[in-house]
Amino acid sequence: MLVVNLNKIPCQVIRTVAMVLSVATCAVSSHAVYASDATQAQLLVRRNACMGCHTTDQKRIGPSYLAVAARYKDQPEALTKLVEKIKKGGAGVWGAIPMPSHPRLSETDAQTIVAWVLAGAPPK
Ligand code: HEC
Repeated sequence: MLVVNLNKIPCQVIRTVAMVLSVATCAVSSHAVYASDATQAQLLVRRNACMGCHTTDQKRIGPSYLAVAARYKDQPEALTKLVEKIKKGGAGVWGAIPMPSHPRLSETDAQTIVAWVLAGAPPK
């Protein structure tokens, strides 16, 4: 029988093993595409200051993400339309206050955000 005395293993080895294990766990959980999109989308809306004007469930300066999801739920072209709207900005759909343009937001990042918003902005 193999008995491992933990006191004899250098800390560095334990740390390396722990790291490898946690990386392996992360790789497995990111297989759920949906989960990683929600994570990525939330990172993007924070990084691009969207949360200064929007929240998931409450109207602020702009509509809540849930209100947006409800409004466009039967519109297949909503994704393309909203990506354009976020990049160009504009007013008149929810009221007179305009959303500023976001010219530096990439097409891919905008799509990740909009797909998440239209899915009801799930936390994960
Ligand atoms: C300065 C405040 C402000 C910021 C920052 C902002 N928005 Fe908005 N957003 C608004 C307002 C106001 C509206 C409503 C515009 C309208 O009535 O047409 C809006 C509308 C929207 C809509 C719905 C558009 C429509 O035509 O129905 C989405 C989706 C959206 N914003 C996402 C975002 C995302 C993603 C970001 C970050 C990249 C962002 N917003 C940043 C204020 C803001």
